[in-house]
Amino acid sequence: MKGVILAGGTGSRLFPLTKVTNKHLLPVYDRPMIYHPIQALVNADVRDIMIVTGGENAGDFLRLLGSGSQFGLQHLNYAYQEKPGGIAQALALAEHFVGNEKFVVALGDNIIQKSIRAAAQAFERQPEGAKILLAEVENPRSYGIARIEGNAVVEIIEKPSDPPSNFAVIGTYFYNADVFKIIRTLKPSGRGELEITDVNNEYLRRGTLTFEFLDGWWADCGESIPWLLRANNLVARDGANNTG
Ligand code: DAU
Repeated sequence: MKGVILAGGTGSRLFPLTKVTNKHLLPVYDRPMIYHPIQALVNADVRDIMIVTGGENAGDFLRLLGSGSQFGLQHLNYAYQEKPGGIAQALALAEHFVGNEKFVVALGDNIIQKSIRAAAQAFERQPEGAKILLAEVENPRSYGIARIEGNAVVEIIEKPSDPPSNFAVIGTYFYNADVFKIIRTLKPSGRGELEITDVNNEYLRRGTLTFEFLDGWWADCGESIPWLLRANNLVARDGANNTG
């Protein structure tokens, strides 16, 4: 399976740490943030990755990561997002790279304690559609949140003011190539972005979205500086992307 890592955006919630650099180049414990999602995908047997970034530090990714051989990657590709128009807009830049295959998307500021390998294998067996992963959080107003009825996710609400649950949709998404057609139908949200939550709700509407609850902790390093600190401490304590 191929993988796409999104590492554009403005990083405004981490200002001034992101005034002169890209959020994903900041350290999280002993390595740059972007190393963590790369390792997460490598541990799920992904060897062909595209990184989508933007802004003034795009060249630094090339200097930092080069060919990706240090991670055991076969191919590391790069795409440039001219303006931060949303996660779904950034993802659209990977269409040519992905072709007609199923693939996994990782948000470059998300770190997980354990492996997503089993979820990736389950998605390989899934005949169509998409898969999301849910994690329980204390601050549901910050994320895309699942409304759950019985055993089913019935709706995902982006940054709800009145959260219907504490289950956040984390930044690891599995899609088939239909995702690119869906993105072409999206309209910008209130914050002027093409929202990945709208993509996931479309798969839900089609009845082809599956979900799993994540095992272990999850951190969105871009949520705030306190969360960035928390991610550093979690990685220092437990490591990340643990396969055992
Ligand atoms: O972290 C999980 C959450 O990520 C989900 O629960 C939400 O549903 C989803 O919308 C997203 O919310 P955020 O507001 O945290 O997304 P953020 O703007 O921080 O962007 C997440 C990543 O995507 C970040 O690492 C940079 C990348 N990105 C973002 C934008 C807006 C891009 O590459 N290009 C962009 O234009």
